[in-house]
Amino acid sequence: MIERMKKEDLDQVVEIEKDSFDHPWNRDYFENELNDSEIGELYADIENGEVIAYGELWYMFENCDLTKIVVKRDYRHRGYGRKMLKHLTHIAKERGCEFMHLEVDVKNDDAIKLYKMNGFTTVRTRKNYYENGSDAYDMIKGLIEAKPRKILAIESSCDETACAIIDEELNVYSSVVTSQIDVHARFGGVVPEVASRMHVEQISTIIKEAVEQAKIKVEDVDAIAYTIGPGLIGSLHVGGIAAKSLAFFYDKPLIGVHHLKGHIFINELIKPLSYPVMALVVSGGHTELVYIENDESFRIVGTTLDDAIGEAYDKVARVMQEGYPGGPIIDKLAREGKPHYHLPTPKVDAYDFSFSGLKNAVLQLVKKEEADGNEINKNDLAYAFQETALNVLVNKTEEALKEYPCRSVVLAGGVAANSRLRELMQERFADHDLILPPLKYCTDNALMIACAALHYLKHEKFVDLDAPSMPSMSIED
Ligand code: KG4
Ligand code: ZN
Repeated sequence: MIERMKKEDLDQVVEIEKDSFDHPWNRDYFENELNDSEIGELYADIENGEVIAYGELWYMFENCDLTKIVVKRDYRHRGYGRKMLKHLTHIAKERGCEFMHLEVDVKNDDAIKLYKMNGFTTVRTRKNYYENGSDAYDMIKGLIEAKPRKILAIESSCDETACAIIDEELNVYSSVVTSQIDVHARFGGVVPEVASRMHVEQISTIIKEAVEQAKIKVEDVDAIAYTIGPGLIGSLHVGGIAAKSLAFFYDKPLIGVHHLKGHIFINELIKPLSYPVMALVVSGGHTELVYIENDESFRIVGTTLDDAIGEAYDKVARVMQEGYPGGPIIDKLAREGKPHYHLPTPKVDAYDFSFSGLKNAVLQLVKKEEADGNEINKNDLAYAFQETALNVLVNKTEEALKEYPCRSVVLAGGVAANSRLRELMQERFADHDLILPPLKYCTDNALMIACAALHYLKHEKFVDLDAPSMPSMSIED
């Protein structure tokens, strides 16, 4: 929780300060600020007695200086900086300040992006501002500007019905998801007709819940977004019709979002993306390496020639007579598995993938063992399948990065929840700005559609009420 900093926080604050800066503020400075300062106010974010982050505001008439925001090393890139910035902005607004000003090292890309995404603009560069000779940007944000625009987004491309509301500063007002997975599990996979019928049953109540939770009126949102493709056609239509009805009735612009862009841009809730970005998109329907030069330029540099990786997980689980969806089951089984079975590594040119041969190899292996009267060790088989499949994914990503150097590497889609894949990504791409979505953001939801929709809104990319759903739309379109 963020509170005014207290004397007893100072031991920890001074340590974090020393760990974070070549020229840290000393204890006396903080003590003075706490005791006597009439213009400075220190705040600390504290969880279970531990100082996670702190920041300071200086008030000067109608102006307010944000003198620093610091996050403890172990907690960086987890949204604490943004949380502190929002809190301090809120306080400055409440105090009636009209402007917020800060200086930031021109080389501190992460901080600059954070400030830009939160409405700060650079007004000038101060040469040799810091002790080490670095230049600083002066950045400023008007605090009595128009409110950030809000988007209501709907997702219904497969077997989740979802609605979320977010604003341009990435404040999440609500995110409601209902999954049909239990129903489809009985059939061993998603049944399209059942999925669309269930979307029809759920969608109105999900939207109502999202609006109620957000404590706003639909009139207050600035655009309505929905997944226009790819996905199951009947399912897409349900979300599309709901979004179009709202857009028509409330006279709002309509945004048709590509589902995979949603999986990619939800990572911005963790940290701003540094372009160019390489996205490894791994889901039940897709396996793609996407090179993203900026938020309007997507290029598929590798794709699967047959099954998607999630589909392969689901099918292998079925061969092993395990449930649906197979991904989480295999993930868990493999954790107890040992190298025992050998499966052939799929060989495909360049950065493309193929998983159907691997899936068949699993089937043949199971049949052979059965014919030989041997019991299959499911842990070992899950291990063999997973190691083979995932190593292909990370190896190809690594190769692609040599031809397409990128600053950020992001993982996206349902299979991003896989514990081993996350481990491998961390091992291999530690030298990049790597973003792994938290588990709750991996499976389909509407928050991801809302995050992507903010980019469409920024570029004023709207669709008409007669826009068709596009079940096999490419991310390049
Ligand atoms: O992105 P998603 O929710 O739906 C599509 O857009 O396809 O991805 C669903 C896929 C399923 O194939 C599921 O088995 C897989 O993601 N999945 C996993 C894990 N959790 C979900 N695959 C591997 N390991 C997991 N832990
Ligand atoms: Zn998805």
